[in-house]
Amino acid sequence: MSVAIRNLNKRFFVDGNAIPVLNNINLEVRQGEFITIVGQSGCGKSTLLKMIAGLESITEGEILRNGKPVTAPGTDCGMVFQDHRLLPWLRVKRNVGFGLRCSKAEREHIAAQHLQLVGLSDFANAWPHQLSGGMAQRAAIARGLATNPALLLLDEPFGALDALTRIQLQREVLRIWHASGATMVLVTHDIDEAIFLGERVVVMSARPGEISEVIPIPPGVGADRGSLDFARYKDRILKYFFADEKSREEYNI
Ligand SMILES: Nc1ncnc2c1ncn2[C@@H]1O[C@H](COP(=O)(O)OP(=O)(O)OP(=O)(O)O)[C@@H](O)[C@H]1O
Ligand SMILES: [Mg+2]
Repeated sequence: MSVAIRNLNKRFFVDGNAIPVLNNINLEVRQGEFITIVGQSGCGKSTLLKMIAGLESITEGEILRNGKPVTAPGTDCGMVFQDHRLLPWLRVKRNVGFGLRCSKAEREHIAAQHLQLVGLSDFANAWPHQLSGGMAQRAAIARGLATNPALLLLDEPFGALDALTRIQLQREVLRIWHASGATMVLVTHDIDEAIFLGERVVVMSARPGEISEVIPIPPGVGADRGSLDFARYKDRILKYFFADEKSREEYNI
C-alpha cells in the first residue's frame, strides 16, 4: 500500500488554545517501502501515525492510502501502539486473534503462528497482566501482524525490550517485511534501529514537528552496524538532535 501525505498540519485544541503539533508534512511512501521516523519526544510522531491509521483527525492537508483519502481505520492497515494496548479481559491468544474475521479454528491457528513468531507460544493462555512489559509488547506486535495488513504502522514497538530481544525482533520484522511485501512505517527513538530497518529515515524537528530531512539509506549500509558507512549516517542524523558543539561534547558524539 502506498501512502501520500500532502501539506499536512495538525493542531490540538487545549482549553481553547490551538497547539501546533505538525507543520507542513509532505511525504510519499512507496508500496512495499520500509520507512523509519526519528524525532524528539513530543514532535508529533505518534500523532502522525494515528492520522495515517485514520484514528486521529487531520487539521489541514490530506493523507491518501493507495490514492484514497483516509477517513476511518481499516483492516488493511495495522498499528502497533507505543503502549501495547492489550485488552486485559482477553487471554493473550485472543488478543492476538482479535482483529481477525474468520472461523474460530483459523483464528486460533493464526494466533498460534504469530505467537510463535514472537516467542510467546508458552504464554498463549496467559492474561496480559501476567506478562512482562517486553512480552506484552511482543504480543502487540503479533497482533499487529496477524491480520497480514498491507500497511503496518509501528510506534516504538521495541521500546520496552532489552537490547538482545530488540535486535532479534528487528531481524524478525525485516524478515516479515521481505516475506509479506507490506509497507512499513516505524517510529523509533533509536537511531541505529532507524538505519538498520529503514530504506529511508525521516528526521523530524522538535514540536511543531516538521520534516528536517529524508535520508535514503543505500542497500547494505543498514545491515552492518559496525561499518564506517553506518557510523556516518548515524552521525548525520545525530547532528539534527545535537546541533551545537557544546551538546555534542556533552553527549560525547
Ligand atoms: N489528544 C491530545 N490532545 C492534546 N494534545 C495532544 C494530544 N495528543 C498529543 N498531544 C500533544 O501533541 C504533541 C505530540 O504528541 P505525540 O504523542 O504525537 O508525540 P511523539 O513525537 O510521539 O512523542 P514521544 O516520542 O514522546 O512518543 C505533544 O505536545 C502532546 O502533548
Ligand atoms: Mg509517541
